[in-house]
Amino acid sequence: MSTIGFIGTGRISAAMIDGLAKTVGHTDQVWISPRNAILAKALKTRHAHVEIAKDNQEIIDHCETIVISVRPQIVSEVLSELCFKPNQIVISLVATLSIEQLKELIKVPVALNRAVPLPFVENQRDTTLVYPKATPHCRDLFNRLGQIIEIEDINLLNVFTVASAMMGTYFSLLDNLSLWMQEKGVEEGDAKLYLSNLFNELGHIAKQPTSFAHLQDEYSTPGGLNERMAKSFLNADTQSHLFGALNQLLATVTNNALANTKK
Ligand SMILES: NC(=O)c1ccc[n+]([C@@H]2O[C@H](COP(=O)([O-])OP(=O)(O)OC[C@H]3O[C@@H](n4cnc5c(N)ncnc54)[C@H](OP(=O)(O)O)[C@@H]3O)[C@@H](O)[C@H]2O)c1
Repeated sequence: MSTIGFIGTGRISAAMIDGLAKTVGHTDQVWISPRNAILAKALKTRHAHVEIAKDNQEIIDHCETIVISVRPQIVSEVLSELCFKPNQIVISLVATLSIEQLKELIKVPVALNRAVPLPFVENQRDTTLVYPKATPHCRDLFNRLGQIIEIEDINLLNVFTVASAMMGTYFSLLDNLSLWMQEKGVEEGDAKLYLSNLFNELGHIAKQPTSFAHLQDEYSTPGGLNERMAKSFLNADTQSHLFGALNQLLATVTNNALANTKK
């Protein structure tokens, strides 16, 4: 049985714990922070193998693997008060803290990774980014929650991170489509049902081992509505606008990472 501790019992820890509990053939002893008492109690009620620690140090003392999942604003303060065990497996989910800063705060040599899980871990459907090359425990943990992409170049981790920031834009696109349909007289519920199913199925198709450009062709009859829509909506201007926004965000993420490393 493996022992996994979560320093910070918030949304992403809960999603990971719920996801891990669904893994057939594995039983983890999970230790969680007493903070966020309502969620901690709910997790303990949901899962027999979850224990609420009296404090963060007790989590470290009991567990082989420690997941750091507090908010960026308090992480330095929280970690500086803790004593890790040499060679412990530590995985930080905190985007703003570099590996160098983590090493400084943890003080003893540990097997360290940063990981970027998304809430899809709850249903074991995540593609978790792991930086740098994953330790075997880290790889095993996130493979149980979906699949992982191991990234050894911090610049590429930043690129993936920026791409993941399209989640809000995706829902905004759906919202705008729905608003337009409602403006033309469609009931909101019908628009939601129709659009969520349309994009859900397209999401499945997008996983096919063929390029997105090929799929675009496949789903655009020459002269048909899809092709006309793409031509009028997606042109050189929209691409340049999208790339501009992505580059701007990438510059911010890269500069923040550099500033943090120098601190
Ligand atoms: N949510 C995501 O999808 C996601 C994805 C990847 C990475 N992350 C990263 O993961 C971290 C957690 O994100 P989250 O969305 O789960 O945040 P969250 O829901 O706000 O959870 C953070 C938890 O930390 C607890 N906490 C505060 N002070 C603490 C302390 N001294 N010791 C232990 N726990 C303490 C909070 O408890 P109280 O409520 O009692 O203050 C809260 O439950 C962040 O760094 C975030 O950037 C999140």
